[in-house]
Amino acid sequence: MTEQNKTVRILAIESSCDETAAAVVENGRKVLSSVIYSQIATHTLYGGVVPEIASRKHIEKISQVVECALSEAGMKLRDVDAVGVTYGPGLVGPLLIGVSAAKAMAWAADKPLVGVNHIEGHVAANFIEHPDLEPPFMCLIVSGGHTHLVVVEDYGRFRILGRTRDDAAGEAFDKVARSVGLGYPGGPKIDRAAKDGNSSAIVFPKAKVADSPYDFSFSGLKSAVLNYQNHARMTGETVVVEDLVASFQKAVVDVLVEHTVDAAREFGFKQVAMAGGVASNSALRAAMKKACDKKGISLYYPSPVLCTDNAAMIGSAAYYELIRGNVSGLDLNAVPGLKLGER
Ligand code: KG4
Ligand code: ZN
Repeated sequence: MTEQNKTVRILAIESSCDETAAAVVENGRKVLSSVIYSQIATHTLYGGVVPEIASRKHIEKISQVVECALSEAGMKLRDVDAVGVTYGPGLVGPLLIGVSAAKAMAWAADKPLVGVNHIEGHVAANFIEHPDLEPPFMCLIVSGGHTHLVVVEDYGRFRILGRTRDDAAGEAFDKVARSVGLGYPGGPKIDRAAKDGNSSAIVFPKAKVADSPYDFSFSGLKSAVLNYQNHARMTGETVVVEDLVASFQKAVVDVLVEHTVDAAREFGFKQVAMAGGVASNSALRAAMKKACDKKGISLYYPSPVLCTDNAAMIGSAAYYELIRGNVSGLDLNAVPGLKLGER
């Protein structure tokens, strides 16, 4: 941006998985509108996201969702300063719908196009509700597809300290929920059911990854949960679902909290944030808060609606990319395997 102190309003689009979302965000921090059309009801019928159905739903809804976001912000397309869009990581079909719509709008209105990394967007959700939060800080990113422990060195610049070696935290929640018949999406259902359970009823292993103190592994835990159920079935014991999911949740939460607090201490960070769908988990929030309070660390996390997929977070990340001059060409393509920190 050449003009100092200019108000920058970005129309942002998110369609990487099963939410069709659009938002208008001012200067990366103020949400003027945020509209989310969730496809959860459709995918619940199949026990998980069906990519082809997700793409079709995105096509059906995207124009309406964008129009709604603009009108709630009291704006027309010509009034925005740029169009931001998630171009990866995610499902290729769904990503392509958002990217194509954003390109068409940027071209038609002659506005800059800003491709945004979805994981960077999750981190940026924290900037919306915490005006005092600025890099550097540590961030635990826990979503359905990703689990990373990172240092946010600057806006859009990350140093990865740890990542999952197998399943993402949210994926483990979804798979365990399915195995006990709670359905999709598993995270919120386990969160709710665990409140009626005893988290010390079953002791599950806490996976450590040799030589990588901040890496995570959840597939062993998932197998332990499945083995527990198989064993109970064979011996005729009853499984108390609430106790099982509360114990599973505790095992996940303990590892996430331990790694995050240990890393904050080792690298000397007094500000820790959480991001992604699993960051809305009530047990994780409570345990992380307790551990951070004990160490004098300030903890930040977005409201639940900004933890799960939304376009406001993409509008925030797009702003920080735009002011650093990171504008995309009209040849922007969907990159399903885009890594954190890649552009
Ligand atoms: O960030 P997100 O909306 O999408 C991805 O980018 O993956 O995360 C979705 C994931 C799902 O696995 C869902 O089960 C999990 O976040 N999730 C939760 C909760 N709410 C959503 N996991 C645990 N507790 C929750 N309350
Ligand atoms: Zn996400």
